[in-house]
Amino acid sequence: MIDILDRVRNKSLQEKIVSAEEAAAFIKPGMTLATSGFTASAYPKAVPMALAERMKKDPFTVNLWTGASTGPELDDVLASVHGIKQRLPYQTDKALRDDINDGHVNYLDLHLSESAQLSRVGYLGKIDVAIVEACAITEEGNIIPTTSLGNAASYVQTADTVIVEVNTTQPLELEGMHDVYIPMDPPNRLPIPIVKANDRIGTTYIPCTPEKIKFIVPCDIKDHTRDLSPIDENSKKMAAFTLEVLNAEIKAGRMPKNLLPLQSGVGNVANAVLAGFVDSDMTDLTVYTEVIQDAMLDLIDAGKLNFASGTAFSPSPAGMERFYKDVAKYKKYLLLRPEEISNSPEVVHRLGVIAMNTALEVDIYGNVNSTHVAGSKMMNGIGGSGDFARNAFLTIFYTPSVAKGGAISSIVPMCSHVDHGANDVDLIISEQGVADLRGKAPREKALEIINHCVHPDYKPLLLDYYNRALEATHHANTPHLMEEALSFHAKFLKTGSMK
Ligand code: COA
Repeated sequence: MIDILDRVRNKSLQEKIVSAEEAAAFIKPGMTLATSGFTASAYPKAVPMALAERMKKDPFTVNLWTGASTGPELDDVLASVHGIKQRLPYQTDKALRDDINDGHVNYLDLHLSESAQLSRVGYLGKIDVAIVEACAITEEGNIIPTTSLGNAASYVQTADTVIVEVNTTQPLELEGMHDVYIPMDPPNRLPIPIVKANDRIGTTYIPCTPEKIKFIVPCDIKDHTRDLSPIDENSKKMAAFTLEVLNAEIKAGRMPKNLLPLQSGVGNVANAVLAGFVDSDMTDLTVYTEVIQDAMLDLIDAGKLNFASGTAFSPSPAGMERFYKDVAKYKKYLLLRPEEISNSPEVVHRLGVIAMNTALEVDIYGNVNSTHVAGSKMMNGIGGSGDFARNAFLTIFYTPSVAKGGAISSIVPMCSHVDHGANDVDLIISEQGVADLRGKAPREKALEIINHCVHPDYKPLLLDYYNRALEATHHANTPHLMEEALSFHAKFLKTGSMK
C-alpha cells in the first residue's frame, strides 16, 4: 500500500496530517459541512465516523450537503445519532430517510445539476467546512479525486476551510480519469464546450491551494458499494422493449445506428436495461450519464461501448474488483465530471441524450412521481432524473406495473406527487409493454398507457375511472373525477391494497 506521505506531495502540507478525531473536533454545532461523494463512491468516511462518535456523547446537529447519496460511513452514522439538521441534494439511506420522514431532518430535494450553483451563489448560506476524499494532493495543493466528483470542486472553491481525507485504498491510477470544470455564474457564464461525450474541457484535479487545506486525514476504509440484485424477468422484459423501441427509432431515421448518448438512472432496473445492450447487435455506443454501474464494464468488455462520461463510478463490490484489476484498460473508456456538467441541461440537450430513468408511479396522463410514496413519504429524491427528463432527445420512464406483490398499481389515476410533468415524458415502459406518448393528446395518452402498461388486475379499474371521468367532464382535455383521483392511494393507506 502506498504510504500517505507519498500521496501528500507537498512536503509542507504533510505537517497538516492529523487523526480523524482531531479534524472532527474542529466541527462546531450548526456548521454546514459540504462533502465529496456521489452514490457510495468517494465520500469521506473517517471524519464523519469520528464526528458521529462525538455526537453520541454530546448530541448536536450539522447541515450536510453532498453530491448525492453516500455510503453508510457518512449518511448512516450521522443520521443514526440524529446529527443532521438539513440535508441536500439526494439520499438513499434508510436511517436518514426515517429522520426525514419523522421531522428530524429538513431535506432539500434538488435537481442535481443546480445544487453546485445554489451553493456557490450563497442563497443557502455559507459552507463552513468542505470535507473531500482524495487519492493524492499535488505539490500545488490541488486535490486528485477518487471514484466520483459530484459537487466536490464547487464545495472546495466556496468553503472557508477544507479537510482532505486521503484514502490510501484508492489506486493512484485513478489520476487522469477526471475532468473538472466549474462554470462561471451569470452574467459571466460561457457555453460549456462539450460537443461529444468524451470531450475534455477542464483539469484532472480539483483546484485548491495549500493555505486553504486545514487538515489532512488518512483513511483506509473502502467505498461501501452495494451488490445489485440478479436481473429479474420484469427487468429483462423492459430491457427487451427498450431495444425494440430504439431499433424502431433507427429504422425511422430519427437516430443513427449507434444511437444517441445513453443516460441510465440508478438501481437495478436501470442496470438491467443497460445490460440488455450487451446481448444486442448495437455497437459503438456512447454514454453521457450520472452513474456508471456494472453494465458499463460489461459493455466495454463486449466491445460495444466507445465511451462513458459520468460523475460517479459506482459498481457493485465485484464490479469494483474487476475495475481495480485493470484500471488502465477501463480508464480509456471512462471519464468523471462534476455533476453540474454530467447533468447539465445545456449539454444533455446538445448531445441529444436518451434518458432512461425509473419512476415510483406514473398516472394515466403520463405524469411521473419519482420521489414520494403515497404523496407524503420521501423515498430517495429527484436526483438527476429531472435534469435529463426535461432536456433529453428521448425520455423514457420505467416502472414495473405493480409494487409490493401486486398490492400497489404503479399506474394510478393521478400521481400523488409530480416530479416530471407529462410534457417531459415520451415513453413509459412497464413489463406489460410500451406506451408511446409522443404526438398524443391527454385522452389518447390515457388509453395508450392503460392498454399497454397497466397490470391486468388493475386495467378494468383504471378503464372504469377514465370512462366515468370522460363522461362526467363532457370529454374535457384531461378528464378527472376530483373526488376519486387519489382514491387508489386512499384505499391502499386504509386497507394495504389498491385492489
Ligand atoms: N408506491 C409505493 N412503493 C413503491 C412504489 C409505489 N408506487 N413503486 C415501488 N415502490 C417501492 C418498492 O416496493 C421498493 O420497496 P422496497 O425497497 O421496500 O422493496 C422500492 O420502492 C424501490 O422500488 P424498486 O422497484 O426496487 O425500484 P428501484 O430500486 O429501481 O428504485 C426509485 C426506484 C424510483 C425509488 C429510484 O429509481 C429513484 O430513487 N429514482 C429517483 C432518482 C432518479 O431517477 N435518479 C436517476 C437519475 S440520473
